[in-house]
Amino acid sequence: MTDPKRLILRRPDDWHVHLRDGAMLDAVTAYTARQFRRAIVMPNLTPPITTVAAAQAYRDRIRAAAAGTAFTPLMTLYLTDDADPAEIEAGHAAGIFTAAKLYPANATTNSAHGVTDVRNIRAALETMQRIGMPLLIHGEVTDPDVDIFDREKVFIDRVFTTLLRDFPALKMVFEHITTRDAAEFVAATGPNVAATITPQHLHINRNAIFAGGLRPHFYCLPVAKREEHRLAVRRAAVSGSPKFFLGTDSAPHAVERKESGCGCAGIFNAPYAIESYAAVFDEEGALDRLEAFASEHGARFYGLPLNEDRIVLERSPAPVPDSLPAADTRLVPFHAGETLAWRYVGPA
Ligand code: DOR
Ligand code: ZN
Repeated sequence: MTDPKRLILRRPDDWHVHLRDGAMLDAVTAYTARQFRRAIVMPNLTPPITTVAAAQAYRDRIRAAAAGTAFTPLMTLYLTDDADPAEIEAGHAAGIFTAAKLYPANATTNSAHGVTDVRNIRAALETMQRIGMPLLIHGEVTDPDVDIFDREKVFIDRVFTTLLRDFPALKMVFEHITTRDAAEFVAATGPNVAATITPQHLHINRNAIFAGGLRPHFYCLPVAKREEHRLAVRRAAVSGSPKFFLGTDSAPHAVERKESGCGCAGIFNAPYAIESYAAVFDEEGALDRLEAFASEHGARFYGLPLNEDRIVLERSPAPVPDSLPAADTRLVPFHAGETLAWRYVGPA
């Protein structure tokens, strides 16, 4: 492709997003709905989404927040040690649960009710394998003796390999991969294992968190790693492999919760998400592979139809504001204060 000025892409989907609830849900949903047709919505609310009824009610609130758009939220169940296989199967059959999320207990925001040992959810995983329901994995161990920068790699060795062995036909998504280890691991598995990749893990390495002072808006989990890992994740994203697809992990936290003595993990990237990915694919000389990564691989993995409508991106400056109003506070978006080279224009 020779230096295009305009790109027309099949409309993308976001295979991993946090939309929150209440006033924050109302404030952030439009950013995701503006660019994406569908999104896999994370269930880590307080309390978490553990029942069909809770997911259905949450889906109604999201639909209300996205009223007037064609946005389709795809719901997930939050797995706990006592996850009920019958509830999972009923919710999947009814079209309420698209997938289930495995948070190792205390791995991240609102994960206190997560799974303490995957042996506790064997029955749920057997059911999911049988009905073809994907397991979405926050792949970090929580053992405080393991260095935070090693937690993804150690999860592969201690947990993911046993899941693969015990559930060889289970569809699994290694969410928001951050390491060469994860990229290589996923590439080496069968077609039932895939990975999402966020904008931030393509753009920043761990130095960004400490550049000239502590930068809370670059802090998320899994935390950014060394440069060699960022480069490996980039190679995976632009490789054209159907095992890697777009998942922003957009995770809004009020500015005062980020800029704090104990700042929350999460990067709010929804407002300029497709622009952020386009910058990476442009830098890698791979703009011709952006559409497959953003709009095709995920849908095929989930067994869902591709979107039929298209969007327009144009090579023109997209200045990102320092912050955006949301509920009764402000959110600092990823790339705040920068100017991105590609701009989302709108529907084709
Ligand atoms: O940085 C993160 N924020 N990582 C997660 O896994 C959760 C998310 C959140 O909900 O804020
Ligand atoms: Zn997430």
